[in-house]
Amino acid sequence: MTQRTLVLVKPDGVQRGLTGQILARIEAKGYTLAQLELVTATREILERHYEEHQGKPFFEPLVEFMLSGPVVAAVVEGDRVIEGFRSLAGATEPTTAAPGTIRGDLGRDWGEKVQKNLVHGSDSPESAEREIGIWFS
Ligand code: PPS
Repeated sequence: MTQRTLVLVKPDGVQRGLTGQILARIEAKGYTLAQLELVTATREILERHYEEHQGKPFFEPLVEFMLSGPVVAAVVEGDRVIEGFRSLAGATEPTTAAPGTIRGDLGRDWGEKVQKNLVHGSDSPESAEREIGIWFS
């Protein structure tokens, strides 16, 4: 079942020079980079992207963090890529994400309120199509 998903390398990943490593893991797994762009997000893009989280305590810190530097947006294709990439990314919290995952190997807690966890991946086919439309309109 070929799918596509929206992957973001978040500002911490770009600032730390980890974009190449992260994209290499995606390609090494056998997925295809169909579209790729370095983007300076706007508040409008982020409020649409994270609309399901509006009103949650982490919403504003998350938007501010995502505005703190450029992100790399990618459309990634492959069979069952949505769950495959989320497995590759690891659990949300990088300190406890499993070793072998992007977040588990490359991320950690930095003692800040905001959670810097390197990557985003869509969580369903519906989210993927919605998010791809936001970042690659
Ligand atoms: S929820 O409520 O269970 O759906 O939330 P969760 O899936 O854990 O997280 C949703 C996205 O919010 C990000 N998040 C945060 N970012 C910054 N700071 C804090 N404290 C924080 N808590 C959650 C989390 O990384 C998810 O972002 P994406 O980009 O979707 O991975």
